[in-house]
Amino acid sequence: MATSVWLRRLKVAERLLRPGGSYRRRSGGGGSVEAASVVDGSEEPDLPEKTMAKSFSALQAARHEQAERTILVSCPPNVTEKKFYQYLASYGTINKYFFYETFGIYALVEFSDKESIEAVQNSSTIPSLQHECAVPFKSRFFNLRNKHVGSLTSTHPSVPQLKQSVIPPNELLLKLSGAKSIDEQLFTVLKESQLTEENTRLRFLVCSLLKEIAAAYFPECSIKPFGSSVNNFGKMGCDLDMFLDLDSICGRNNTKTGGAFSMEYQTKRVASERVATQSILSVIGECIDQFAPGCTGMQKILNARCPLVRFSHQPSGLQCDLTANNRIAMRSTELLYVYSNIDPRVRALVFGIRCWARVQGITSSIPGAWITNFSLTMMVLFLLQKRNPPIIPTLDQLKDQAEEKDKHIIESHDCTFVSDIKMKPSQNTETLEELLQGFFEFYGSFAFSKMSINIRKGKEQNKPEASPLHIQNPFEQAQNVSKNVNQTQLDRFVTAARESAWILQQEGLKYPKANPWGLAALLLPNSQSSMGKSKKRRKQPASERIKSLLDSLKTNKQTTDHLNRPNGVRKFFSTVAR
Ligand code: GTP
Ligand code: MG
Repeated sequence: MATSVWLRRLKVAERLLRPGGSYRRRSGGGGSVEAASVVDGSEEPDLPEKTMAKSFSALQAARHEQAERTILVSCPPNVTEKKFYQYLASYGTINKYFFYETFGIYALVEFSDKESIEAVQNSSTIPSLQHECAVPFKSRFFNLRNKHVGSLTSTHPSVPQLKQSVIPPNELLLKLSGAKSIDEQLFTVLKESQLTEENTRLRFLVCSLLKEIAAAYFPECSIKPFGSSVNNFGKMGCDLDMFLDLDSICGRNNTKTGGAFSMEYQTKRVASERVATQSILSVIGECIDQFAPGCTGMQKILNARCPLVRFSHQPSGLQCDLTANNRIAMRSTELLYVYSNIDPRVRALVFGIRCWARVQGITSSIPGAWITNFSLTMMVLFLLQKRNPPIIPTLDQLKDQAEEKDKHIIESHDCTFVSDIKMKPSQNTETLEELLQGFFEFYGSFAFSKMSINIRKGKEQNKPEASPLHIQNPFEQAQNVSKNVNQTQLDRFVTAARESAWILQQEGLKYPKANPWGLAALLLPNSQSSMGKSKKRRKQPASERIKSLLDSLKTNKQTTDHLNRPNGVRKFFSTVAR
């Protein structure tokens, strides 16, 4: 198939799958003709669509600005959409709104200008409580109260609520079994698990609400999301990583003025930047804990390599990590964003592998000795650099294309790479099925004991230290992003990769003849034990899952010849991970 035709086909698939893509149900006016007619003109601003070619920083700026014109409203249980809309529209033009449910019904409402929010704030009151006292803090998070019973609500809930949670595994398996190819299965995983437009708005709104707290101390600060919330690899339910950016206060961007003198601020002095970061996070964390409505369970993790405060934002259901002085992580986020936009296969494969790893118990949301999603993404990117011809460029090649505006030196680390990439599409025409198989075969036999994974060079290199898994940090090159991984967890990854390579090679499991088949056969729950569970299971040479898949193959009267194919991945079982 000609490259251009193939890529065009994938681009169409990718466009349909993007948040804001046309497959999605429209929000804001689902049940009410009146509301829909007003909102439809400007709703679904298709920010990601329109800004698909936008640089990361331009997209972030647009999202931040949008979040500042947005409020969060806790609604009475049986609120009607029409009355809700009529009431809030009296404060100004509404660009978009949608409802969702966590512990109660919430609405996110984007006005077309900030004055409308001031109007809402001016007419809102601090509640007077009978047995408690409300801390008088005026945020953009409101309660909608019924002054007259029946005025805003009906007896039946009538607002269309958007899901803010991840698709249940069984539902996903069902959808995968309906796909026609493994490529389609991978795109289905992407479509079903990626962050929606609405969830992304919610994430930026949380940052914007928290910024108002931090701004009491640091008026020019901003709170920026980073990591999977914005790198295009986020799945529904992923944590919200945030970075308190004080750069505009520190005046890093100020130009020097002429004359004989210059002025600087008198400041407190502390022993190091780390100590300053710790004390800033400690104070801001305290304020969030005491004053920010909806934030609970504050933990201060200030002695970590990267100090942070962790808490839950209950109205959005988001687990939040707030860091400061973390500009390198912001650059790695942008780097992943750039890679995600180079070729549609990148996101589909990363989502597929992350989903596989989660089901296999290779990754976890709990910190520990397991492989992280960030490390897994690096491994997929490395694989795509190693294909022949390569599907994505190396980081050094991205650096070679950088312009003056792309130059970033952070704490003496060169974090330069091109942000607006102009490259011819890759000549590589491999299908996602081939790449998935390629991932399992490549890492099922990778020389982890000797070699390091390096996306800057796109080549494995000799390991500089003894950690079981070494993935060079793309910017802090002396660091290993997978330093936390122990030998047991690496072995589990390698075993799962080999098993999966072998399963995918079984002709009978490749096509929708078997049930489950293709990717679904790799995503069966209770396959390899999840971490910490059943040591007994781990000792088995081949998992129960493979046996039952084989049985199902036999019952389906698939020829067993396939199982003995000369290039079968059985050979993997005889090699050793180390
Ligand atoms: P999930 O939260 O698992 O969906 O993925 P994530 O990419 O957000 O990972 P995580 O929350 O663990 O980390 C947030 C971001 O911090 C990552 O996207 C990276 O940009 C950065 N990061 C994570 N781990 C490392 C690391 O070991 N080294 C460096 N330099 N950056 C890291
Ligand atoms: Mg994260």
